[in-house]
Amino acid sequence: MSQLSGDQLAVSAQGLGKSFGGTTALDGLDLAVPAGTVYGLLGPNGAGKTTAIRLLATLTAPDTGWARVAGFDVAREPERVRRSIGLAGQHAAVDEGITGRENLTLVGRFHHLGAREARRRADELLERFGLAAAGDRLVRGYSGGMRRRLDLVACLVTRPPVLFLDEPTTGLDPRSRGEIWDAVRELTAGGSTVLLTTQYLEEADRLADTVMVLDHGRAIADGPPGRLKAAIGTRVQVVVDDAGQLPAAAGVLAAVTGGEPVSDRDRRQVEALSLPGREVLLPALVRALDAAGVAARDVALRTPSLDDVFLALTAERQAA
Ligand SMILES: Nc1ncnc2c1ncn2[C@@H]1O[C@H](COP(=O)(O)OP(=O)(O)OP(=O)(O)O)[C@@H](O)[C@H]1O
Ligand SMILES: [Mg+2]
Repeated sequence: MSQLSGDQLAVSAQGLGKSFGGTTALDGLDLAVPAGTVYGLLGPNGAGKTTAIRLLATLTAPDTGWARVAGFDVAREPERVRRSIGLAGQHAAVDEGITGRENLTLVGRFHHLGAREARRRADELLERFGLAAAGDRLVRGYSGGMRRRLDLVACLVTRPPVLFLDEPTTGLDPRSRGEIWDAVRELTAGGSTVLLTTQYLEEADRLADTVMVLDHGRAIADGPPGRLKAAIGTRVQVVVDDAGQLPAAAGVLAAVTGGEPVSDRDRRQVEALSLPGREVLLPALVRALDAAGVAARDVALRTPSLDDVFLALTAERQAA
Protein backbone atom coordinates (compact mmCIF):
# COMPACT_ATOMS: atom_id res chain seq x y z
CA MET A 1 0.00 0.00 0.00
CA SER A 2 1.49 3.33 -1.01
CA GLN A 3 2.21 5.97 1.59
CA LEU A 4 0.32 9.25 1.50
CA SER A 5 2.27 12.28 0.46
CA GLY A 6 3.25 14.79 3.13
CA ASP A 7 0.79 17.54 2.25
CA GLN A 8 -2.23 15.25 2.42
CA LEU A 9 -4.46 14.76 5.42
CA ALA A 10 -4.31 11.12 6.47
CA VAL A 11 -7.39 11.52 8.63
CA SER A 12 -10.00 14.25 8.47
CA ALA A 13 -13.37 14.47 10.10
CA GLN A 14 -16.05 16.99 10.76
CA GLY A 15 -18.90 16.93 13.22
CA LEU A 16 -18.48 13.23 14.03
CA GLY A 17 -21.05 12.20 16.58
CA LYS A 18 -22.19 8.95 18.15
CA SER A 19 -24.69 8.17 20.89
CA PHE A 20 -25.47 4.92 22.65
CA GLY A 21 -28.97 5.09 24.09
CA GLY A 22 -28.95 8.19 26.23
CA THR A 23 -25.13 8.48 26.28
CA THR A 24 -23.44 10.84 23.88
CA ALA A 25 -20.07 9.16 23.39
CA LEU A 26 -18.84 11.60 20.76
CA ASP A 27 -20.29 15.05 20.28
CA GLY A 28 -19.17 16.68 17.04
CA LEU A 29 -15.51 15.77 16.62
CA ASP A 30 -13.41 17.64 14.02
CA LEU A 31 -10.03 16.19 13.08
CA ALA A 32 -7.23 17.07 10.66
CA VAL A 33 -4.22 14.78 10.85
CA PRO A 34 -1.43 15.46 8.33
CA ALA A 35 0.19 12.40 6.76
CA GLY A 36 3.36 11.19 8.44
CA THR A 37 2.56 12.64 11.86
CA VAL A 38 1.56 11.26 15.25
CA TYR A 39 -1.74 12.55 16.59
CA GLY A 40 -2.63 11.93 20.22
CA LEU A 41 -6.19 11.77 21.51
CA LEU A 42 -6.10 12.37 25.24
CA GLY A 43 -8.85 12.06 27.74
CA PRO A 44 -10.12 10.43 30.90
CA ASN A 45 -12.14 7.20 30.99
CA GLY A 46 -15.29 7.52 28.96
CA ALA A 47 -14.12 10.63 27.07
CA GLY A 48 -14.92 9.00 23.71
CA LYS A 49 -11.43 7.97 22.56
CA THR A 50 -12.28 4.38 21.64
CA THR A 51 -15.51 5.49 20.02
CA ALA A 52 -13.57 7.90 17.81
CA ILE A 53 -11.17 5.16 16.76
CA ARG A 54 -14.01 2.72 16.09
CA LEU A 55 -15.78 5.25 13.85
CA LEU A 56 -12.59 6.02 11.92
CA ALA A 57 -11.79 2.31 11.55
CA THR A 58 -15.34 1.69 10.20
CA LEU A 59 -16.19 -0.68 13.06
CA THR A 60 -19.24 1.39 13.82
CA ALA A 61 -21.12 4.05 11.84
CA PRO A 62 -21.39 7.68 12.96
CA ASP A 63 -24.80 9.23 13.73
CA THR A 64 -23.62 12.61 12.48
CA GLY A 65 -20.74 14.07 10.50
CA TRP A 66 -18.24 12.52 8.12
CA ALA A 67 -14.69 11.23 8.16
CA ARG A 68 -12.07 10.40 5.55
CA VAL A 69 -9.17 8.08 6.21
CA ALA A 70 -6.28 7.70 3.75
CA GLY A 71 -8.39 9.58 1.23
CA PHE A 72 -11.49 7.37 1.56
CA ASP A 73 -14.86 8.13 3.06
CA VAL A 74 -15.66 5.89 6.04
CA ALA A 75 -19.36 5.69 5.21
CA ARG A 76 -19.15 5.27 1.43
CA GLU A 77 -15.86 3.40 1.03
CA PRO A 78 -15.44 1.33 4.19
CA GLU A 79 -13.65 -1.51 2.38
CA ARG A 80 -11.00 0.84 1.02
CA VAL A 81 -10.59 2.44 4.43
CA ARG A 82 -10.12 -0.99 5.99
CA ARG A 83 -7.46 -1.88 3.46
CA SER A 84 -5.57 1.31 4.33
CA ILE A 85 -5.45 1.01 8.10
CA GLY A 86 -3.95 -1.01 10.87
CA LEU A 87 -5.79 -1.17 14.18
CA ALA A 88 -4.42 -2.22 17.55
CA GLY A 89 -7.31 -2.22 19.98
CA GLN A 90 -7.33 -1.43 23.66
CA HIS A 91 -6.89 -5.13 24.44
CA ALA A 92 -4.21 -7.14 22.64
CA ALA A 93 -5.78 -9.49 20.11
CA VAL A 94 -2.97 -11.97 19.49
CA ASP A 95 -3.43 -15.73 19.85
CA GLU A 96 -1.74 -17.00 22.99
CA GLY A 97 -1.61 -20.65 21.98
CA ILE A 98 0.80 -20.18 19.06
CA THR A 99 4.15 -18.46 18.62
CA GLY A 100 4.74 -14.83 17.72
CA ARG A 101 6.02 -15.86 14.31
CA GLU A 102 2.94 -18.01 13.68
CA ASN A 103 0.67 -15.14 14.71
CA LEU A 104 2.25 -12.81 12.15
CA THR A 105 2.30 -15.45 9.43
CA LEU A 106 -1.40 -16.11 9.99
CA VAL A 107 -2.19 -12.42 9.65
CA GLY A 108 -0.30 -12.35 6.36
CA ARG A 109 -2.15 -15.43 5.07
CA PHE A 110 -5.44 -13.89 6.17
CA HIS A 111 -4.58 -10.89 4.01
CA HIS A 112 -3.86 -13.14 1.03
CA LEU A 113 -0.07 -13.11 1.13
CA GLY A 114 1.47 -16.30 -0.27
CA ALA A 115 2.95 -18.72 2.30
CA ARG A 116 6.52 -17.75 1.54
CA GLU A 117 5.81 -14.01 1.47
CA ALA A 118 3.85 -14.26 4.74
CA ARG A 119 6.81 -15.98 6.41
CA ARG A 120 9.26 -13.48 4.99
CA ARG A 121 7.19 -10.55 6.23
CA ALA A 122 6.86 -12.13 9.69
CA ASP A 123 10.64 -12.57 9.91
CA GLU A 124 11.25 -9.02 8.78
CA LEU A 125 8.87 -7.52 11.33
CA LEU A 126 10.08 -9.66 14.23
CA GLU A 127 13.61 -8.56 13.45
CA ARG A 128 12.75 -4.89 13.06
CA PHE A 129 10.78 -4.65 16.29
CA GLY A 130 13.10 -6.60 18.55
CA LEU A 131 11.04 -9.77 18.74
CA ALA A 132 13.27 -12.07 16.71
CA ALA A 133 14.60 -13.94 19.73
CA ALA A 134 11.10 -14.49 21.12
CA GLY A 135 9.54 -15.25 17.76
CA ASP A 136 9.41 -19.01 18.23
CA ARG A 137 8.05 -18.99 21.77
CA LEU A 138 4.37 -19.34 22.57
CA VAL A 139 2.78 -15.94 23.11
CA ARG A 140 1.36 -17.30 26.38
CA GLY A 141 4.86 -16.90 27.82
CA TYR A 142 5.33 -13.30 26.61
CA SER A 143 5.42 -10.37 29.00
CA GLY A 144 2.65 -7.77 28.72
CA GLY A 145 5.03 -5.48 26.86
CA MET A 146 6.00 -8.12 24.31
CA ARG A 147 2.37 -8.99 23.71
CA ARG A 148 1.51 -5.38 23.06
CA ARG A 149 4.44 -5.04 20.72
CA LEU A 150 3.40 -8.16 18.83
CA ASP A 151 -0.13 -6.80 18.60
CA LEU A 152 1.20 -3.55 17.17
CA VAL A 153 3.48 -5.40 14.76
CA ALA A 154 0.57 -7.59 13.62
CA CYS A 155 -1.21 -4.54 12.25
CA LEU A 156 1.87 -3.66 10.17
CA VAL A 157 1.92 -6.88 8.15
CA THR A 158 -0.01 -5.28 5.29
CA ARG A 159 1.99 -2.01 5.43
CA PRO A 160 -1.04 0.22 6.04
CA PRO A 161 -0.33 3.94 5.68
CA VAL A 162 -2.57 4.84 8.65
CA LEU A 163 -2.43 3.22 12.07
CA PHE A 164 -4.90 3.50 14.92
CA LEU A 165 -3.52 2.53 18.31
CA ASP A 166 -5.96 2.54 21.20
CA GLU A 167 -4.04 2.99 24.46
CA PRO A 168 -1.00 1.10 23.20
CA THR A 169 0.87 1.31 26.50
CA THR A 170 -1.76 1.16 29.22
CA GLY A 171 -0.59 -1.08 32.03
CA LEU A 172 2.96 -1.41 30.74
CA ASP A 173 6.08 -0.75 32.79
CA PRO A 174 8.27 2.22 31.80
CA ARG A 175 10.69 0.09 29.84
CA SER A 176 8.03 -1.64 27.75
CA ARG A 177 6.36 1.69 27.22
CA GLY A 178 9.64 3.06 25.88
CA GLU A 179 9.84 0.13 23.46
CA ILE A 180 6.38 0.89 22.10
CA TRP A 181 7.33 4.56 21.74
CA ASP A 182 10.39 3.58 19.75
CA ALA A 183 8.23 1.41 17.51
CA VAL A 184 5.81 4.28 16.89
CA ARG A 185 8.68 6.65 16.06
CA GLU A 186 10.11 4.09 13.68
CA LEU A 187 6.74 3.86 11.93
CA THR A 188 6.39 7.58 11.36
CA ALA A 189 10.01 7.77 10.23
CA GLY A 190 8.89 5.34 7.52
CA GLY A 191 6.07 7.71 6.50
CA SER A 192 3.13 6.13 8.36
CA THR A 193 0.54 8.22 10.13
CA VAL A 194 -0.34 7.22 13.68
CA LEU A 195 -3.42 8.22 15.59
CA LEU A 196 -3.16 6.99 19.15
CA THR A 197 -5.19 7.39 22.29
CA THR A 198 -3.68 7.57 25.71
CA GLN A 199 -4.42 8.47 29.27
CA TYR A 200 -0.76 9.27 29.84
CA LEU A 201 -0.02 12.88 29.18
CA GLU A 202 3.70 12.28 29.22
CA GLU A 203 3.26 9.78 26.43
CA ALA A 204 1.41 12.26 24.26
CA ASP A 205 4.02 14.87 25.08
CA ARG A 206 6.88 12.63 23.98
CA LEU A 207 5.28 11.13 20.91
CA ALA A 208 2.62 13.30 19.42
CA ASP A 209 3.11 16.18 16.99
CA THR A 210 -0.41 17.31 17.81
CA VAL A 211 -2.72 16.41 20.65
CA MET A 212 -6.41 16.81 21.21
CA VAL A 213 -7.85 16.75 24.70
CA LEU A 214 -11.28 15.12 24.75
CA ASP A 215 -13.73 15.32 27.59
CA HIS A 216 -17.32 14.05 27.49
CA GLY A 217 -17.09 13.47 23.75
CA ARG A 218 -15.94 16.99 22.92
CA ALA A 219 -12.56 18.51 22.10
CA ILE A 220 -11.61 20.96 24.81
CA ALA A 221 -8.20 21.85 23.35
CA ASP A 222 -5.91 20.88 20.53
CA GLY A 223 -2.54 21.82 19.14
CA PRO A 224 1.14 20.94 19.47
CA PRO A 225 1.95 19.96 23.09
CA GLY A 226 4.37 22.89 23.38
CA ARG A 227 1.72 25.39 22.44
CA LEU A 228 -0.81 23.98 24.88
CA LYS A 229 1.78 24.21 27.63
CA ALA A 230 2.83 27.75 26.70
CA ALA A 231 -0.79 28.79 27.00
CA ILE A 232 -0.93 28.05 30.70
CA GLY A 233 2.25 29.67 32.01
CA THR A 234 4.99 28.67 34.41
CA ARG A 235 4.42 27.12 37.83
CA VAL A 236 6.40 28.89 40.55
CA GLN A 237 6.89 27.50 44.07
CA VAL A 238 8.53 29.12 47.05
CA VAL A 239 9.18 27.39 50.38
CA VAL A 240 9.91 29.66 53.36
CA ASP A 241 11.53 28.91 56.74
CA ASP A 242 8.93 30.77 58.73
CA ALA A 243 5.23 30.30 57.90
CA GLY A 244 4.72 33.89 59.04
CA GLN A 245 6.44 34.99 55.85
CA LEU A 246 3.94 33.25 53.59
CA PRO A 247 1.84 36.40 53.00
CA ALA A 248 4.92 38.39 51.99
CA ALA A 249 6.06 35.57 49.68
CA ALA A 250 2.58 35.39 48.20
CA GLY A 251 2.69 39.13 47.53
CA VAL A 252 5.95 38.73 45.63
CA LEU A 253 4.58 35.80 43.62
CA ALA A 254 1.44 37.71 42.72
CA ALA A 255 3.55 40.59 41.43
CA VAL A 256 6.03 38.44 39.54
CA THR A 257 3.61 35.93 37.99
CA GLY A 258 0.44 37.98 37.65
CA GLY A 259 -1.31 34.83 38.91
CA GLU A 260 -3.14 34.00 42.12
CA PRO A 261 -0.81 32.47 44.71
CA VAL A 262 -2.04 29.58 46.85
CA SER A 263 -0.40 29.10 50.25
CA ASP A 264 0.01 25.85 52.17
CA ARG A 265 0.92 26.58 55.80
CA ASP A 266 1.76 22.98 56.70
CA ARG A 267 4.34 22.78 53.95
CA ARG A 268 5.32 26.45 54.37
CA GLN A 269 4.89 26.75 50.65
CA VAL A 270 3.26 29.20 48.29
CA GLU A 271 2.63 28.43 44.66
CA ALA A 272 1.36 30.33 41.64
CA LEU A 273 0.88 29.80 37.93
CA SER A 274 2.11 32.70 35.80
CA LEU A 275 -0.20 34.38 33.33
CA PRO A 276 0.19 32.98 29.81
CA GLY A 277 2.88 34.82 27.90
CA ARG A 278 4.44 36.34 31.03
CA GLU A 279 8.07 35.38 31.36
CA VAL A 280 9.25 34.50 34.87
CA LEU A 281 13.02 34.50 35.40
CA LEU A 282 14.65 32.95 38.42
CA PRO A 283 17.14 35.77 39.22
CA ALA A 284 14.39 38.39 39.15
CA LEU A 285 12.23 36.24 41.42
CA VAL A 286 15.05 35.72 43.91
CA ARG A 287 15.84 39.45 43.97
CA ALA A 288 12.19 40.32 44.54
CA LEU A 289 11.93 37.85 47.43
CA ASP A 290 15.10 39.28 48.92
CA ALA A 291 13.86 42.84 48.57
CA ALA A 292 10.66 41.87 50.41
CA GLY A 293 12.75 40.37 53.23
CA VAL A 294 11.52 36.83 52.55
CA ALA A 295 13.97 34.11 53.61
CA ALA A 296 13.26 31.50 50.96
CA ARG A 297 14.47 27.97 51.61
CA ASP A 298 13.58 26.70 48.15
CA VAL A 299 12.51 28.38 44.94
CA ALA A 300 11.37 26.34 41.95
CA LEU A 301 10.23 27.27 38.47
CA ARG A 302 8.59 24.54 36.48
CA THR A 303 7.43 24.82 32.92
CA PRO A 304 4.05 23.16 32.77
CA SER A 305 3.56 19.53 31.86
CA LEU A 306 0.60 18.32 29.86
CA ASP A 307 -0.80 17.24 33.22
CA ASP A 308 -0.95 20.89 34.20
CA VAL A 309 -2.65 21.67 30.89
CA PHE A 310 -5.20 18.97 31.48
CA LEU A 311 -5.89 20.05 35.06
CA ALA A 312 -6.18 23.68 34.03
CA LEU A 313 -8.58 22.83 31.21
CA THR A 314 -10.79 20.58 33.26
CA ALA A 315 -10.80 23.05 36.19
CA GLU A 316 -11.93 25.78 33.79
CA ARG A 317 -14.78 23.60 32.63
CA GLN A 318 -15.85 22.77 36.15
CA ALA A 319 -15.84 26.45 37.05
CA ALA A 320 -17.80 27.38 33.92
N1 LIG B 1 -21.20 0.00 22.72
C1 LIG B 1 -21.55 0.88 23.66
N2 LIG B 1 -22.75 0.84 24.26
C2 LIG B 1 -23.11 1.75 25.20
N3 LIG B 1 -22.32 2.76 25.62
C3 LIG B 1 -21.11 2.86 25.07
C4 LIG B 1 -20.65 1.93 24.07
N4 LIG B 1 -19.39 2.30 23.69
C5 LIG B 1 -19.09 3.39 24.42
N5 LIG B 1 -20.12 3.73 25.24
C6 LIG B 1 -20.13 4.89 26.16
O1 LIG B 1 -19.65 6.00 25.46
C7 LIG B 1 -18.77 6.78 26.27
C8 LIG B 1 -17.41 6.87 25.62
O2 LIG B 1 -16.79 5.59 25.67
P1 LIG B 1 -15.38 5.27 25.03
O3 LIG B 1 -15.16 3.82 25.16
O4 LIG B 1 -15.30 5.87 23.68
O5 LIG B 1 -14.41 6.08 26.02
P2 LIG B 1 -12.83 6.03 26.15
O6 LIG B 1 -12.38 7.45 26.10
O7 LIG B 1 -12.25 5.08 25.18
O8 LIG B 1 -12.63 5.49 27.63
P3 LIG B 1 -11.48 4.54 28.27
O9 LIG B 1 -10.36 5.45 28.62
O10 LIG B 1 -12.12 3.99 29.49
O11 LIG B 1 -11.11 3.50 27.26
C9 LIG B 1 -18.78 6.11 27.64
O12 LIG B 1 -19.74 6.76 28.42
C10 LIG B 1 -19.19 4.70 27.32
O13 LIG B 1 -19.83 4.12 28.42
MG1 LIG C 1 -11.12 3.38 25.37
